[in-house]
Amino acid sequence: MRTLAFAATLAIPFLMSACTADDLPTQERAVAPILTTDEARDEFTYARPLEARVTHVALDLDLDFEGRRVEGVATLDVDAAEDATEIVLDSDGLVIGGISDGNGNALDYTIGESDPDKGEPITVQLGELTGPGLQQIVINYASGSEAEALQWLAPEQTAGGEYPYVFSQGQAILNRTWIPTQDSPGIRQTWEARITAPKPLNVVMSGISRGDPEDVGESRRAFEFVMENSIPPYLIAIAAGNIEFAELGPRSGVWAEPEMLEEAAAELTDTEAMIDAAEEIYGPYRWGRYDMIVLPPAFPYGGMENPVMTFLTPTFIAGDRSNTGLIAHELAHSWSGNLVTYSSWRDGWLNEGVTSYFESRISEAVFGEKRANQEYALSYASLVEAIDENGADNPNTAMRTPEGISPFDTVGPAIYDKGTVFLRTMENIIGRERFDEFMRGWFDRHAFQPATSEMFLSELREYVVQDDEELEQQLMLDEWVYGTGLPENAIAPDPAAFAEVDEAAQAYADNGTLPAKQKWTGWTGAEQQRFLQELPEEMSATQLSALNQRLALADTGNNEVLFLWLEAALRNEYQPAVAQAETFLGEVGRNKFVEPLFKALWDTGSWGQPIATRIYDETRGGYHSYTRNQVDPIVGWEG
Ligand code: BES
Ligand code: ZN
Repeated sequence: MRTLAFAATLAIPFLMSACTADDLPTQERAVAPILTTDEARDEFTYARPLEARVTHVALDLDLDFEGRRVEGVATLDVDAAEDATEIVLDSDGLVIGGISDGNGNALDYTIGESDPDKGEPITVQLGELTGPGLQQIVINYASGSEAEALQWLAPEQTAGGEYPYVFSQGQAILNRTWIPTQDSPGIRQTWEARITAPKPLNVVMSGISRGDPEDVGESRRAFEFVMENSIPPYLIAIAAGNIEFAELGPRSGVWAEPEMLEEAAAELTDTEAMIDAAEEIYGPYRWGRYDMIVLPPAFPYGGMENPVMTFLTPTFIAGDRSNTGLIAHELAHSWSGNLVTYSSWRDGWLNEGVTSYFESRISEAVFGEKRANQEYALSYASLVEAIDENGADNPNTAMRTPEGISPFDTVGPAIYDKGTVFLRTMENIIGRERFDEFMRGWFDRHAFQPATSEMFLSELREYVVQDDEELEQQLMLDEWVYGTGLPENAIAPDPAAFAEVDEAAQAYADNGTLPAKQKWTGWTGAEQQRFLQELPEEMSATQLSALNQRLALADTGNNEVLFLWLEAALRNEYQPAVAQAETFLGEVGRNKFVEPLFKALWDTGSWGQPIATRIYDETRGGYHSYTRNQVDPIVGWEG
């Protein structure tokens, strides 16, 4: 059955994508089509999936905290075309012990030359097994010493300070440093895993946990997980540490170190309401449970949408749930990104832009229109600023990343915020009801399948525009997706969203009038952020000191606010903020905060550069490879 489904996709890929997942028998549902258009092509994989592709990954791994590596066996189910003789996998530094078929017969393989971006191909001869149908290959391996997906933390980097910790970050193309598979978002795979770890550590993964952990001797336990929905392989994720679980609702809960579990659970009180709201908008949540893990502060992102187990930075915790837009965002990815996934990294907006729009819809439903409008205004402002900075004809401001630019070097707001503004604009022109119906259909038609910009636009034309020329012109679809800058039909935010804050910011800029402390503390997180973003670029030490005294910025419990304060202080060479910045940078590895703070220091020249160098020497070792890769070039790090 699997072979038939595969053959069908080979010949007529679009026939497959025309059926909904529910029309297909279970066996076939697991094998998602491979898209064959130019736009769908992923240049960051060595795989040739139309010849032979991985459909299922079974991991049997030990977490080795001393050696800082994973070690064990990956068994891959392979679906090969009739004339295929080999299968190509992605690897980046994997140490291969040997490869055999499902019966234990050794298979020949070669490891190609390594490319700094893509890593190296592993080409496995299918040998005797050549021919259509399901085959297995069994790979003995370990991750290499520089595996970028894995961050191993020393006990000092955790809240408890007693046990080591490890977590993975697969997106974009990092999972090939610990899993030998075809690491491309358009090659969906189901997976299962058995992982051992030393007691008393617990292991979680982005799959459903299968039974209780099993004692396996030598003071270790084995944990099992399974993901029956086919997913893009960047979504396979693992974390292990001294973590415990707290239930949030019937299908949601949170993992964290015991020291912060209660605080984390309190901040996440709105989770069930968000899931309900999301379902109301785009249909059923199809993954079963929605759990989250609050990681140590070294985690390089705000959040990562790993299925059934969102990974979160602890820095979103403010005590007042003001930063939970992040949860709405990662949850929204359960539709946009995890259910329907870009086939190529060049379609970043299909995951992140659609998600940012959906995030704002969830925010509106759970927290009301005012908060949603404010978040939209922040988004719009960051887009306008990015376009101003880069120039409206800069190819970096296109939503679909054009050839010649790496999709990993794009301007964030052009993907996230332009995506939000695009979909809000579509909603506004088409009407909410009709647009929601279209989007719901989009997720249904392509559930558990890859997609492209081209498909999105052609379906919008097929289902909504329907040859209405006037509507076609009004929407400006191609200009939005392929063009640069901000199309003229963009829906501007409601100026009332921040009326009071903008007035206060203007008064401060005009004559130095500070907002009253009471007014400031009454403002929402978004309002405080807006005010700080509107501060003049240049401020004197006297001004900064007065501002900090009035608003107690250095004592805020909200890291987004603290970050904006530190950034303003550092770019203005405000010495009294250096110690606090140093402490912050020593604890927090979230790139969104770390990179701009180093940049602010560096850009001041002779004042900040020695400070940046001194701090980075101390803190670099605690950062994830992603954050290091972003900061190294800013401070001219040379190892
Ligand atoms: N999927 C992204 C994180 C990501 C994107 C990792 C591209 C690697 C490559 C995640 O959903 C995300 O967007 N996180 C944001 C959250 C924010 C927009 C609410 C973050 O970490 O800041
Ligand atoms: Zn995202």
